[in-house]
Amino acid sequence: MCGIVGFVGEKNVAELLPACLKKLDYRGYDSFGFAFQNNSLLLVVKQVGRITDFNGFLAKSASIGIAHSRWATHGAVTKKNAHPHISCDGKIAIVHNGIIENHSELREKLAKKGHSFAGETDSEVAVHLAEEFINQGRSFREAARETCRSLKGAFALLFINRESNELIAARNGSPLILGLVENGTFVASDTTAFIEFTKQAIFLDDGQIAFLGKEIELENFNTGQKLSTKISHIEWDAEQAQKNGFEHFMLKEIFEQPDAIEKCIQGRIANGQAVLPELDSIAEKLGKINRIVIVACGTSWHAGLVAEYAFEELCALPVEVEYSAEFRYRNPVIDENCLVIAISQSGETADTLAALREAKKHNAPVLSICNVMGSTIARESDAVIYTRAGPEIGVASTKAFTTQLAVLNLVALFIALQRNSAPESKVTDALNGLKSIPNAMRKTLEQSKTVEAIAGLYWDKSNALYLGRGPNYPIALEGALKLKEISYLHAEGMPAAEMKHGPIALIDSNMPVVFIAVKDRTYEKVLANIEEVRARNGCVIAVSSEAATEIKNLSDSVIYIAETIPLFQPMLSVIPLQLLAYHIAKKRNCDIDKPRNLAKSVTVE
Ligand code: M6R
Repeated sequence: MCGIVGFVGEKNVAELLPACLKKLDYRGYDSFGFAFQNNSLLLVVKQVGRITDFNGFLAKSASIGIAHSRWATHGAVTKKNAHPHISCDGKIAIVHNGIIENHSELREKLAKKGHSFAGETDSEVAVHLAEEFINQGRSFREAARETCRSLKGAFALLFINRESNELIAARNGSPLILGLVENGTFVASDTTAFIEFTKQAIFLDDGQIAFLGKEIELENFNTGQKLSTKISHIEWDAEQAQKNGFEHFMLKEIFEQPDAIEKCIQGRIANGQAVLPELDSIAEKLGKINRIVIVACGTSWHAGLVAEYAFEELCALPVEVEYSAEFRYRNPVIDENCLVIAISQSGETADTLAALREAKKHNAPVLSICNVMGSTIARESDAVIYTRAGPEIGVASTKAFTTQLAVLNLVALFIALQRNSAPESKVTDALNGLKSIPNAMRKTLEQSKTVEAIAGLYWDKSNALYLGRGPNYPIALEGALKLKEISYLHAEGMPAAEMKHGPIALIDSNMPVVFIAVKDRTYEKVLANIEEVRARNGCVIAVSSEAATEIKNLSDSVIYIAETIPLFQPMLSVIPLQLLAYHIAKKRNCDIDKPRNLAKSVTVE
């Protein structure tokens, strides 16, 4: 939600920041803006629309600047509501990511003191507060500190002042990372903004404020305590964040899945065992668990649902898979013997972070499965396993999902051996099966043209149903979510057997029904469900394997996928569904990488 980036140092920010902001536009893309400070002047430019369409500035130069790409929460998409927000005297500019919960109360107080507000955003209070503290005689630094102390809610804030050579950055609940270059410092909500220039980063923690000028000074803004800086090395490459000849990031990321799984499992399978040193820190606690609770949102929640089958089958442990947003507001009955697994691509999803914190209050060991290194969820967990999928830029999650599944299966196999809950031969076979997934994915991806042709038959329908059973039931949910989010078609996923309990009433010749029908223990039952749809003239699209010979005669269209052991089949069966959503969205002329109303990282409740 919203991308922010700033720079201070020996580079022309008027040239630099538009390019950096373009890398963040997946975080929010309804409007954007810049503020540059040079020679005691503050230049502010704001625009409704996408930063990707911005042609840059003519012959401007500045060495301090901040920029913002917006995903509206409070206030409509207008130029006035676009960031940066400016103080009444025009001296201070801020950009904000997050939600300021006490904004109404602050706005009222500030208005009484004579501040006039340009727009309706919650963020604007931050700049007027800072101005108010300066009016009361505080320095720029003190004003920024006091502003942070006065705000409730989540924020990543950048401040500049035309009378100062410093950029001030503060974080509380929304990500903020410093990027270090010779003679300058970047600050951004995601490393992709500056990865082209540096891999040296400092991840700010909640409650920290950084004063960026010739030096970097770090403090706790509540206590004023000076803090030391810890430099981390980012492993991603700049090229990974490019489209590399693909028309969309989503398509590129779908095709990257075999390589992503290879990287994900590299070094994590040896001598018939899952090798996960990341679990060392919770090894003792893991030995005592009697239950697993998985918390996640959206696609990551679907990964949790798939994993439930593996944990039950291999580890003989009861598993609950919870929406993070629901879990956080319950009184969950968990204790130190319950392993909580938080799954999040971004590692910044506000609800999952809150669920993790709730779990920690109950002393439950928390393992997170994240893609973004150094993200908040990763840092706050007792143990983290990175999925190593590389940057996922398309808003629709694809390679992050399949690598989450790979990691979850590895964890299940690790625990199975530890608990002695599955025969060694079964674990070894499964690990060998996992190693063969990248090639099976490559084979499945060869179906891309077939899927494109099928998309041509159904792209103008208004609804679709997705049905699957066992571990392919969550894949039905995921297929429906992919279609909804990028093509704006209504779609529902459900367990195939549930159809006859109501949704069957929807079926007629206008209803495409996508079945995942692979040769597993429910195959015959799924065939019966297909017959039920055919009997009502529904159109059947089957995702199946060549071994399932009956399918051809029962379906209008078939997409063949490679076969693997049933527990891992979801890593393959999801691929045609990702491609189907992609090609349908393309035929409908949708903005595939940046679907309307969505943002990649949901850092608000
Ligand atoms: O970063 P996270 O995995 O925590 O994100 C959770 C969801 O917002 C995310 O999976 C969302 O559902 C995807 N855009 C769907 O493709």
